[in-house]
Order: sequence, then structure tokens, then C-alpha cells
Amino acid sequence: MESTTEAVRRSLRAGQIVAFTGAGISAESHVPTFRGVDGLWRNYSPERLATAEAFASDPRLVWEWYDWRRQIIHKAQPNSGHQALAEIERRATGSFTLVTQNVDGLHDRAGSRNVVKLHGDIWWVRCTGCAAEEQNQQVPLKPLPPHCHCGALLRPAVVWFGEALPESAWERAHEAATQADVFMAIGTSAQVYPAAGLVQVARQSGAHVAIVNPDPTPADELAEWVLRGPAGEILPRLL
Ligand code: APR
Repeated sequence: MESTTEAVRRSLRAGQIVAFTGAGISAESHVPTFRGVDGLWRNYSPERLATAEAFASDPRLVWEWYDWRRQIIHKAQPNSGHQALAEIERRATGSFTLVTQNVDGLHDRAGSRNVVKLHGDIWWVRCTGCAAEEQNQQVPLKPLPPHCHCGALLRPAVVWFGEALPESAWERAHEAATQADVFMAIGTSAQVYPAAGLVQVARQSGAHVAIVNPDPTPADELAEWVLRGPAGEILPRLL
């Protein structure tokens, strides 16, 4: 009897593969998740820190929080889960698309190439006046809040609650999900839409759906394969 890990590993040998990741894949790099035991939203209020309204009312507070997260991520290293996905991409004979909800940039640092960032990137800033975007890897950020050359406030180039996802990223992610032969949802609680809806899109388009997560998620019922455990342990076994 073939094991679930074996079945998933075999399915990755050909065809169109999509890896859909969430904060859980960075947990073993000591980057806090959002809804886990010590998750960010357990200790901080998303309404006060991750909305346009919060930024408008107190940009310094919001930037102090993002600067704190940048300092944590700056010290973090990609783990064996990130590295395994980069290797699966290198070995892929068909297409491989990595759709991430993460803003930490650890997939890039692990060497992943075809990465779609649905929720933006914490290492980029956008001007609230002239809309210019630029990479900013200054740690710690000084001064806070940062300003653009045009004089207007800069904001983190991430997607806040109540904001639309970047159109081109969403289109690429949705297209990849409809074309997928294998769709792996890794380290996501699958609760935040529209991103979480990609699992259903892939399933309805005929993809084999695999879940990698130590805990149950609402997407488990859509999955053919559920691999219960930390991504850093499970993903290397798929090589
Ligand atoms: N390996 C795999 N999964 C893990 C690990 C691990 N080592 N540790 C925890 N997990 C799982 C948790 O069980 C949980 O299901 O990762 C998931 C993390 O869920 P969330 O914290 O809700 O993160 P995510 O799904 O990425 O959140 C989606 O919500 O707050 C917004 O914009 C933010 O992108 C984020 C979005």
C-alpha cells in the first residue's frame, strides 16, 4: 500500500504544480504566524495595525509594528520547507508556480523563482502620494514613519484587511490554480479570502489537492492527500 507521502511525491514528477503557502511555512524560521498559539493576531489587533484606517489615524504606530516584524524576518533564515519547494521547482519537468500569502520574502531567499505574492512584500514601500514603489531593506527603519522623495508618507507595500489584492498577482494565481494538476496548500489556515478560495478553484478544475499542516484546516475536506506535520519535516520527504 503506497503511503500518502509516496503518492504526493510521485504526483510531483510531471504536470503543472502549484504550491500555495501561508505563514506556517515560516514558523520553523521563527517568524510568528497570525492565528497560531503565539500568533500575531492573538497579541495585536489587526484593526489597529493592518488597515488603511489604522494607518491614516496613527502611521507611526503601524510603522513601529512593521519595523518590529522586519527586524524579526531580517534575522530569520529560510528553512528546509522553503528550500524543498525551491528544489521541487528546479526539478519540475512541467510548470511550477509558488503562490504565497507571505510578505516575508523567505521564498525568494531560498531560491524560488516563479513566485506570486498575493499579499505584497514587507521589503517594499509605496508612496501614499505619488504611488511610487521601491525596495527598502533598511533595518531598523529610520526615521519612522518614512517619507517619499515627494514628501508624502510611505506605507508598507502589503495588502491590508479590506484592500484588494494586486490584480496581476491574483490573475496569475487564479490561472495557475485552474491549470494545476497538483495543488499543495502548505502552512495556511485557509481562512482568509480571496486567497483561501484558490484551493476550491484548483479542486473544481480537477487538480489533486494536497494539504501540509500540523493542524486541521477547513480546506482538508477538499484534499485528496493530507500530510499532517511541520512543513520543514514533510516537504523534504517529497524530493
Ligand atoms: N508547518 C506547516 N504549517 C504550520 C506550521 C509548520 N511548521 N506551524 C503552523 N502551521 C499552520 C497552522 O496550523 C495554521 O493552519 O500554519 C497555519 C498558519 O495560519 P495563519 O496564521 O492563519 O496564517 P495564513 O493562513 O498565512 O494567514 C492568511 O491572513 O492575517 C492575514 O495577510 C495575513 O497572509 C495572511 C493571511
